[in-house]
Amino acid sequence: MIEMYTKKVMEHFLNPKNVGEIKNPSGVGEVGNIVCGDVMKLYIKVKNDTIVEIKFKTLGCAAAIATSSVITELAKNKRIEDALKIRNEDVIKILGGLPPIKVHCSLLAVDALKEAIYDYLRKSKRQIPKDLENAHERIEREKRIVKEKFKDFIKRSEKILDISEKSKNKDKRKNKT
Ligand code: FES
Repeated sequence: MIEMYTKKVMEHFLNPKNVGEIKNPSGVGEVGNIVCGDVMKLYIKVKNDTIVEIKFKTLGCAAAIATSSVITELAKNKRIEDALKIRNEDVIKILGGLPPIKVHCSLLAVDALKEAIYDYLRKSKRQIPKDLENAHERIEREKRIVKEKFKDFIKRSEKILDISEKSKNKDKRKNKT
């Protein structure tokens, strides 16, 4: 499978940008991939309607990691309305293509960004564009399907994320002492 990926995909997979979490984010997008059950969380910090910080965490494949890395780079410092115009075709083009069987993975990052923006607009009681509202309803529907279909896997994944977060905090505390 590795040789099916372009050099650019491998670069972003091996050295992804903007991985992690944002404390007190302006918006969070959480999505699940209906095809494979992989999950992703994307965090944004917004100032003056511009995304000033963006980070992601995913339990996904190389293509999901690479597309997430690219999307965070594309969305950073963009105004909300411009970030909403990013399409997965743009991301795939930057990566020099994806194997057809992996195209569904690129949707994870685009949907997570939409959800984070939706969350930001909702929390700040702003008007939500109709397209974004429709996308949110679809993503919510898909999330319910994924949760039902991959119940056990998600439970295990959440546990892994929790354990890795706890051990990171433990390491931080150890380094301070
Ligand atoms: S196989 Fe699940 S996101 Fe790629």
